[in-house]
Amino acid sequence: MTYLNFVVFALLLLSSEASSKQDEVLDNNVASKGPVNQPPTINHHFRKLIATAGKAFRYVIPPDVFTDPEDGSNLTFTIYEAENVPLSQQSWLQYNSTSRMFYGLPLREHVSRWSYILEAKDSEGLVAREQLDIRVHMHRRARLNNHQFIMKVKLLKQFKNTIDWQIRALEGIMNLFEDANLDHLTVLSVTQKGDIYEFSWTNNTMTKYSCPVDDINKLMKVMESETQRGYPSSNLMNAMSPDLEVLEIGWQGIGHCSKNGLMPTNAPSIYPPILRNPIEHLTATVGHLFVYKVSEDTFFDPEDGSTQNLHLSFRFSDNSQIPSSHWLQFDEHKQEFYGVPTPNDIKNAYYVLIAEDSSKKVAYNSFSVEVKMAPKIICPRVEFQVTMDPSLNLLYNASNKRKVVEKLMRLFGQSDTDSIRIENITDNSSTITLYNTSLGSTIQVETEELYKIFTVDEEVNGNNRNEQVDEAVKNDIKITSFRLIPQGSCTD
Ligand SMILES: *[C@@H]1O[C@H](CO)[C@@H](O)[C@H](O)[C@H]1NC(C)=O
Ligand SMILES: *[C@@H]1O[C@H](CO)[C@@H](O)[C@H](O)[C@H]1NC(C)=O
Ligand SMILES: *[C@@H]1O[C@H](CO)[C@@H](O)[C@H](O)[C@H]1NC(C)=O
Ligand SMILES: *[C@@H]1O[C@H](CO)[C@@H](O)[C@H](O)[C@H]1NC(C)=O
Ligand SMILES: *[C@@H]1O[C@H](CO)[C@@H](O)[C@H](O)[C@H]1NC(C)=O
Ligand SMILES: *[C@@H]1O[C@H](CO)[C@@H](O)[C@H](O)[C@H]1NC(C)=O
Ligand SMILES: *[C@@H]1O[C@H](CO)[C@@H](O)[C@H](O)[C@H]1NC(C)=O
Repeated sequence: MTYLNFVVFALLLLSSEASSKQDEVLDNNVASKGPVNQPPTINHHFRKLIATAGKAFRYVIPPDVFTDPEDGSNLTFTIYEAENVPLSQQSWLQYNSTSRMFYGLPLREHVSRWSYILEAKDSEGLVAREQLDIRVHMHRRARLNNHQFIMKVKLLKQFKNTIDWQIRALEGIMNLFEDANLDHLTVLSVTQKGDIYEFSWTNNTMTKYSCPVDDINKLMKVMESETQRGYPSSNLMNAMSPDLEVLEIGWQGIGHCSKNGLMPTNAPSIYPPILRNPIEHLTATVGHLFVYKVSEDTFFDPEDGSTQNLHLSFRFSDNSQIPSSHWLQFDEHKQEFYGVPTPNDIKNAYYVLIAEDSSKKVAYNSFSVEVKMAPKIICPRVEFQVTMDPSLNLLYNASNKRKVVEKLMRLFGQSDTDSIRIENITDNSSTITLYNTSLGSTIQVETEELYKIFTVDEEVNGNNRNEQVDEAVKNDIKITSFRLIPQGSCTD
């Protein structure tokens, strides 16, 4: 039978330097330079951009953001959702290289902070990259909304990106009303059933504290067939032709108008969850247990309520699954992220947290987790080795790793896991460092005492096991042997 050898350093810091366990950030960002052609350079950073849910968004890249010694401002731009993750065709934001313009149509489920990477490439293929931050917020008068128009459409041509047809629909409505003010419309939701899309919007000029039924009916008159209730007028059909076919048109009262809805619909209005307080950037340290509980006000669902009532899961930002061997895992029951990163995990990784409500509607929260190198630990220390049941699979099982660290915490009477570090895990042995972050402490645990805390003496009938250890590691984590490794003096 093979056993996992478990090496534990017990390190008790003396000096006040202990508290200055400031993170050493690994900076591996070294740009390379070609000998002849120079890469583009960044002249100035982008300011943070603001977009509003339901409103068309546009932003032209200023010509002076990047310059290139050879090509001037004649550069090719590519936008990435995250490092090496190109913009997906489903994204609410798109880029038009002809007009050098970002355009988008964010909806309520996109209310969040978004970070993109814009890459400028010169004619020889050298690049410069710059971060582009966009914050999507709710329309400030969204709460006063009293109606939604609902149009069911079929797409009659292939649109490259999802938002392309939505923007086409928005333009069609503006044209129909000969209303050039984009501020007048807010898109509320877009849902899909088979090849039929339901596009719903509101006319903001009618946002009032009472129900403007007459005004709504006036607009409906323009859009609805005179003879057939729920069918589009020929003007509405023409406004969408030849790209979209309108199958049905109606409206529904909300808030002050909630009694007035006339939409011939059998589906109750079901809203997706909303992202309220996004998780943005988290930091973890190599070797240390990282735990982050998703706050209950992160998402809100009009039907289901707070985040605790939603089903959460997470993925990489390119939508790929998180393997069970990944250092970061999610406890769905407790709604918390946890894990102990290793040196191989040092980087800034992008994820998306997905909240699903009881009607299977979802909201997303993109966030990043940066794994930093651990600060050096100062002498003196006591090192000992523990052998554990190999089935724990500590190399790949984040949950067991967490258990071990939390058990050690209790064993050493700590209130948190800050002073416990897993230095190294290999197939057969793992190295854990325990150190004391309290200021001015002297060695608290003498060698003898460590033995007392951790001794498991199998030679004496197995009856001589230390009770404290047994209590702390009962059942799920079995320590089968313990060995102290002598360390040199650390007085220098
Ligand atoms: C990009 O912008 C140009 C100029 O405004 C326009 O002609 C073209 O249709 C746009 N392309 C896409 C894919 O939207
Ligand atoms: C811009 O760059 C492209 C390719 O890098 C080149 O074909 C084009 O002639 C350049 N335009 C100008 C105005 O320099
Ligand atoms: C919005 O409502 C106003 C007032 O009822 C109307 O004048 C305008 O044409 C409407 N615009 C659109 C795009 O529906
Ligand atoms: C981790 O170990 C626990 C108990 O030993 C087991 O229930 C769980 O399935 C393991 N997880 C993975 C991803 O192997
Ligand atoms: C971890 O331990 C293995 C085996 O003892 C050793 O080869 C490796 O260098 C160690 N890695 C680190 C980062 O200390
Ligand atoms: C790990 O354990 C296996 C099986 O007991 C053994 O063959 C191997 O030599 C061990 N490796 C190390 C580095 O101790
Ligand atoms: C760390 O130091 C503090 C203050 O000296 C002490 O109370 C505590 O017991 C020490 N912790 C350990 C694990 O030795």
